[in-house]
Amino acid sequence: MRKILFVGAEALPFAATGGLGDVLGSLPAEIQKAGGKDVDVRVILPLYRTVSDVYRAQMETVYTGEISLAWRRLYVGVRRLHYKGIIYYFIDNEQYFGREGGLYGHFDDAERYAFFCEAVLAVLPNIGFVPNILHAHDWQAAMSVVYLKLKYRNDPRYTDMRSIFTIHNIEYQGQYDPYILGDVFGLGNEHLGTMLYDGCINLMKAAVECCDFVSTVSPTYAGEIQNPYFSHGLDAELRKESAKLYGILNGIDYDLYNPETDTLLCANYSAKAPAKKVENKLAVQREMALAERRDVPMVCLISRLVAHKGLDLFCEIAEALLQNDIQLIVLGLGDEKYENFLRDLEYRHHDKVRSLILYNRDMSKKLYAACDIFLMPSKSEPCGLSQMIASRYGAIPVVRETGGLFDSIKGYYEADGVLHGNGFTFANYASGELLERTEAAIALWRDPKRRRAFVQKIMRTDFSWGASAQKYLEMYNRLF
Ligand code: GLC
Repeated sequence: MRKILFVGAEALPFAATGGLGDVLGSLPAEIQKAGGKDVDVRVILPLYRTVSDVYRAQMETVYTGEISLAWRRLYVGVRRLHYKGIIYYFIDNEQYFGREGGLYGHFDDAERYAFFCEAVLAVLPNIGFVPNILHAHDWQAAMSVVYLKLKYRNDPRYTDMRSIFTIHNIEYQGQYDPYILGDVFGLGNEHLGTMLYDGCINLMKAAVECCDFVSTVSPTYAGEIQNPYFSHGLDAELRKESAKLYGILNGIDYDLYNPETDTLLCANYSAKAPAKKVENKLAVQREMALAERRDVPMVCLISRLVAHKGLDLFCEIAEALLQNDIQLIVLGLGDEKYENFLRDLEYRHHDKVRSLILYNRDMSKKLYAACDIFLMPSKSEPCGLSQMIASRYGAIPVVRETGGLFDSIKGYYEADGVLHGNGFTFANYASGELLERTEAAIALWRDPKRRRAFVQKIMRTDFSWGASAQKYLEMYNRLF
């Protein structure tokens, strides 16, 4: 049997700030399901203050001790929780993870996640789970594969352990001043070659170099990140390591995102019986004090409000788009300039626009169910889950052809009376194309017969994990 340990900074339902939490909250169980008795998949993550008491009450302490991180001696506790058939381990240290504030963005993030990664490796023999594969995700977990290679390899318990590093977003690499190499990471200057990139310590680069395989979350993104336009500086490193690079498209959790059973919706519906979807729109209109109309298309954008999500394109077309008879709802947090633009847009078009400047998963599900057209004009998109969730809830996605958006959404066209594709797509990062395709989606939506056929087709598109979980197993097998 193959033992696999997922190492990452967030996983639903324990802690999440974005798509990484979705993936680490659903992929392990899917791989377990696909691999059956041949695999044992477990997950390890930090015990943040925000992990709910409901889960804490069910945890069992399986280890307490101390580890070294450079000159520090630090407490480490490990709690174990069985949740929906998967074993989760939580690394406990109050000083690093018990504090107020978000999961990331603290002044000492380098130290917090260096501790987490060192703790993961150090405790394995003590918790009775020494994996065959260490599968680390994004920069926060990068040092686990680096420490494995640079510090633990000579210990016979770790000699055969293979490692995979998955890039969910190359924009966040974990870059630090070389000055902290010894003081924070506890590494000597002989490791500068591994740790340095473009004059900085770069944790993602080091992990790419130290791991056996690198993967990323869509086939197209695996190609894109070898190109300077997308790589945020890492393309040379990824081209060098391209022989060990895989791209596997994410799926979504079909139980969590299911309009037929979702208890947050005011009316449930399905691809077979989609008629009640509109009740959800009426409910949102009521809640937001917008005109209660079935016949107006509701356009939504649910996203972190940052440049690479295509917010500049959206801002450019907002006024022109609002010349149409539509309602527009935006949900998200991010850069102040976009937040302010959206507040102002709502102020000027109060009869049509609502800008919800917040992060709220429950609200997002109500909006997926309410909305008719979902915008995702990303400049780059490693995979993107929102277009899949929107599809499952029967909203027509309008996306730019990049990364996982290109791999998951095919452009609409009609030939001999047959509707092809599962959304509206545009190629160039140009606002005119976004506006044109959004208006084309609105036009299709206004045609009741086409709308019904196309929405059903979209809802039936398979975005479950099945095929991708299989691809992860194949990648794991190639390691041996
Ligand atoms: C990151 C990416 C997103 C991806 C998610 C899960 O949030 O930006 O595109 O879907 O990770 O892999």
